[in-house]
Amino acid sequence: MATDERERTVEEAAVDFRYDTGDAAVPWAAVGEHLNTTDLMKLVTLLAKPKAGRATQYRAALGRVEAALNDLWLHAQPATKLRLGDKVKELESRCARLLNVKHACFLTNATAGFELALKFAGLGPGDEVIAPPLTFIATILYPLEIGAKVVFADVDPRTLNLDPADVARKLTARTRAILPVHLGGYPVDMDPLMDLAKAHDLVVVEDAAHAFGGMYRGRMTGTVGHFGAYSFHEVKNLNSLGEGGLLVTDTPFGEQFAKARFVGLDSSRQLPNWVYDVVALAGKNGPVVAGNHSTTEVQAACLLAQMTRLKQIIQTRRRRAEYLNEQFESVAGLLTPPLDDDHVKSTHHLYLLQVDPNKAGGDIQELKARLAAKGVVNIPHFAPLYKFALLRSLNYDGDALARTCPVAEEAFNRRFTHLPLYPLEDNQVELMARLVREAMDQMRRG
Ligand SMILES: Cc1ncc(COP(=O)(O)O)c(C=O)c1O
Repeated sequence: MATDERERTVEEAAVDFRYDTGDAAVPWAAVGEHLNTTDLMKLVTLLAKPKAGRATQYRAALGRVEAALNDLWLHAQPATKLRLGDKVKELESRCARLLNVKHACFLTNATAGFELALKFAGLGPGDEVIAPPLTFIATILYPLEIGAKVVFADVDPRTLNLDPADVARKLTARTRAILPVHLGGYPVDMDPLMDLAKAHDLVVVEDAAHAFGGMYRGRMTGTVGHFGAYSFHEVKNLNSLGEGGLLVTDTPFGEQFAKARFVGLDSSRQLPNWVYDVVALAGKNGPVVAGNHSTTEVQAACLLAQMTRLKQIIQTRRRRAEYLNEQFESVAGLLTPPLDDDHVKSTHHLYLLQVDPNKAGGDIQELKARLAAKGVVNIPHFAPLYKFALLRSLNYDGDALARTCPVAEEAFNRRFTHLPLYPLEDNQVELMARLVREAMDQMRRG
């Protein structure tokens, strides 16, 4: 499809029904209470905190910002639209072009994206989805919520991503979807999964929460499956003011994205004496009810600005991952993660570090404790989902499931952690590398 045609589809998908009342003498006050300088100053102080020891300079700088805002309001008028407006449209067009997809929908978060994708896929109670155990609970929330069954397939020991061979083993007549997760931004081996999906008429929803801007065999990660959802939550590579997500697809379901995002509202249809109708979404197996996952112009504007730095952000992360690999390759008992090659480009969201407990003189729990004692933060990584009380409450047998995923179990208990890559300073990354080497040395010596 030509780029301009793609853009049009995305533009249309973003259309919202309200608020443009035109040049009336008394326009309908479509946006609530306007923002004034006091409100904006609250935002500024929320987003920009004082540095230690700089309270006086901080207060002085705030005074200058307040004066500038007061001056600005002499010449400015408040926004007329704060949600699902031109910035959201622009963001969606930009993302659709970057990712080379027909449909892109900016949502409250990636979790909403998975939910919508699986609604379109017609997932119902008793259906099975196959997911990796090492991910965030969001990947499987919707299947759990509606009483679908989550079947856990084991992971590849090197990447900790879904192992296609185990997915093949765990297929049953009830399997409806595969949910691969690009953990830490490293692309899942998608081709064998897509072959399975084709052979068994399954829907593939990529959890690309960590993977905005990565590549798998010439395509952007998140766009290889039937649907993909990215996260712009504040701990991700890009951050739309704390929360945000993007759902993409090339399937015709994408034509319903605008309705899917906002309660099924359809302003192209009108009830008699009323300005819109509310419709069901046409899912694979019949009508489904949309939710409300609307996003704001402020979030979109922030993300658009950050997108201009995406290449540089990923490059910095890649450089650091390469540096850490160089630092760790010769350390007995440390296993470094695969880096980019001709086929895959990671977003380097997290650095996956593993130990070989047989050579390291201890396991990852011991290494993490030693690192924490040295001041290297112990970031919470992903526990196998079947361990959570939620799953127990839903009658999942954690011990039995652990036996079906031996690689994930061993990795979680004894082998892996994630290290941060950004936005640390270079000297912090160097310090982290030195402290990891030191801790390994001490562990080997006992
Ligand atoms: C692997 C994974 N999937 C999904 C999500 C959910 O993303 P969001 O918070 O945008 O819903 C996260 C967020 O941390 C994640 O790490």
